Amino acid sequence: MRQLSLTLLLCLVGCADEASEVASGNDASGSADATADTSAPDSSADATDGSGATDASGSGSGEPAQGIISTESFPLPESLPGGIFIQPRLLCSPPVAGDAPAAGDSVCTYSAISACTEPGRDFADYGRCDIVRTQRPYSAQTPVIQADPSDPRLSDPAFMSELDWVTSQVKSCACVCCHSSALAPNGPSDWHLEASAIWTDSVSDNGVALLAGLVDSSAFGAYPPEQNFGFERVRTALPSTEPDRMKTFFLEEYLRRGHVESEAAAIAPFGGPLVTQATYEPRACAGSIGVKADGTIRFTGSARYLYILENGSKNPGVPPNLDTPAGTIWRVDVAEASPAMRGALTYGRVPAGAAQRVPANGPPRALTAGEQVYLYTLADVGLPLTRCIATVAP
Ligand code: HEC
Repeated sequence: MRQLSLTLLLCLVGCADEASEVASGNDASGSADATADTSAPDSSADATDGSGATDASGSGSGEPAQGIISTESFPLPESLPGGIFIQPRLLCSPPVAGDAPAAGDSVCTYSAISACTEPGRDFADYGRCDIVRTQRPYSAQTPVIQADPSDPRLSDPAFMSELDWVTSQVKSCACVCCHSSALAPNGPSDWHLEASAIWTDSVSDNGVALLAGLVDSSAFGAYPPEQNFGFERVRTALPSTEPDRMKTFFLEEYLRRGHVESEAAAIAPFGGPLVTQATYEPRACAGSIGVKADGTIRFTGSARYLYILENGSKNPGVPPNLDTPAGTIWRVDVAEASPAMRGALTYGRVPAGAAQRVPANGPPRALTAGEQVYLYTLADVGLPLTRCIATVAP
């Protein structure tokens, strides 16, 4: 049976309307099941008859390497469905009035919490904060601001200019979506750029340690700098084009507040459930949950994401760099505007409204009776449901 997977090629400005949806041949190997053909999630896709099994490689589309940045499997919903994690998309638009001309025709960024646009430009002008705010809980929270009107740093030009540099780096990145009162719709989440003349006074001591990179925040995900306009988010929590300079700024702030670097070792990694999910140790699947050699996969509840991984693989985390662990054999995502998958599906067969993310092309490798695989489903990103080791049943 022919499977279709829809691939929206990464698209630069202006091409959203002519987005190519490409059918790729994907024979579901070894499946005797005769459920209905996969159909496209919306009627505008004309590739559903399976006749146009063209090469979906989309070379030249700039589609990045698998596992690093989300494949554009689905068009962005015009209005965002509430309460659903919207996968990052590459967004590009002409420079806004007053901004420097663009090197290419347009300025780009990913709509992701860990993303930035070009240094010196504002994320708010090119990104989509409404998308970013679907990617972790957002709420207005009032910070404790430890500002002092006689703070000697206020009359220290070297300090103030370094603060300006830090501020401009923050403005280039998606953190502003919740950490700027100008952008956060119900008010900023704790620290914010407008808090006081030295806005870092609104960051708690533990927050400063985090921003200084003394506390691990890797569970929130990060782009490699070459895909994030030079911004790295490994050495510091705030992405920076000069991570050592950023680190020095916040380390000095941590010390200025009377702390020593070694204290930060006692602060737990940042990320709450994302951190505990990363270290989850799966047990054997129980009852009817699991995988059969005929391809039947059974899971609990409603899943927007389903993975079959090699036994021993890491747990899937957030995009762009943690959501496709090495050892992912098969991964299916449901389009954000489509209803979740329920109960069961057939290995290698992509249900309507969903798309195969791994492998990028073609069917997943065959499973053999008796082998063990890791079955992982999520109600949504960060919300795991079924997580167990399945012994493929004959
Ligand atoms: C979708 C909203 C949102 C985005 C985007 C966001 N944050 Fe936050 N952040 C919060 C909320 C809400 C809190 C309050 C504590 C909590 O809920 O975790 C917070 C708290 C923090 C704290 C702790 C502050 C303290 O004083 O203890 C730091 C540090 C932080 N965020 C850094 C970042 C960085 C760096 C980025 C960008 C890479 C970022 N945040 C992006 C919502 C967001």
